[in-house]
Amino acid sequence: MNFKKIKLPDHIGIIMDGNGRWALKRGLSRIIGHKNGVEAVRKTIRYASDIGLKVLTLFAFSTENWKRDKNEIHGIFDIVEQYLETDLDEFKSRDIKFRTMGDITKLPKRIYKKLTECTKQTCNNKGLILNVAINYGARDELLLACNNLIKKGKPATLEDLKNNLYSSDLPDPDLIIRTSGEMRLSNFMLFQSAYSELYFTNSYWPAFDMKQFNRALIEYSKRDRRFGGNHKNVQK
Ligand code: FPP
Repeated sequence: MNFKKIKLPDHIGIIMDGNGRWALKRGLSRIIGHKNGVEAVRKTIRYASDIGLKVLTLFAFSTENWKRDKNEIHGIFDIVEQYLETDLDEFKSRDIKFRTMGDITKLPKRIYKKLTECTKQTCNNKGLILNVAINYGARDELLLACNNLIKKGKPATLEDLKNNLYSSDLPDPDLIIRTSGEMRLSNFMLFQSAYSELYFTNSYWPAFDMKQFNRALIEYSKRDRRFGGNHKNVQK
């Protein structure tokens, strides 16, 4: 695809959904679904870095995901940890800046350490910003921001609120992709998505490939973003 000819988003957020259903359909365990999900993560990050995307946010674990079976939760953390272990060198060679969004202090120590180590070792990189939402929920994020602002004891502005979110140093997502046919945001970047374009695909996350990524990018390039302004392309 010729990316010089189409309008690309700066920031894409992805709600990676459907690992479990992908596995179930094949008579496999949910953990195998998540393992295959990581392969899709790897390909997506490589592609995002190749096309020169500025920010990629991946929703890896929500504040609601603690309701899952303990084995599955720890399986997901193990998979994320292993992935970071093997791919940190590639982040460095691709100049990828890794960072997280969410309360990582509540995660098991091993994964917390791995996440902070990757953040530290790539903090001066200038390429793709890879923002992993882990133990993240937008309502918790907003509550935390409100409580920080209340402590200041004066009316807050929208700018103050934005500056107190986990993503304060990132642009808002231009495009949010959700896989698996579900059409909702499920507590993902609720403040930041006010003007995001939404793209839904029926594909389960492990089956999300670069053909589908291109489809989302082409669809985005056709959208007329007005941010509350007037239609400019209406034919009289
Ligand atoms: C959604 O599928 C997937 C998750 C909750 C976990 C996503 C995690 C990964 C792909 C692990 C790797 C992430 C990184 C950033 C290395 P689901 O289990 O909700 O699927 P279902 O809706 O079909 O049950």
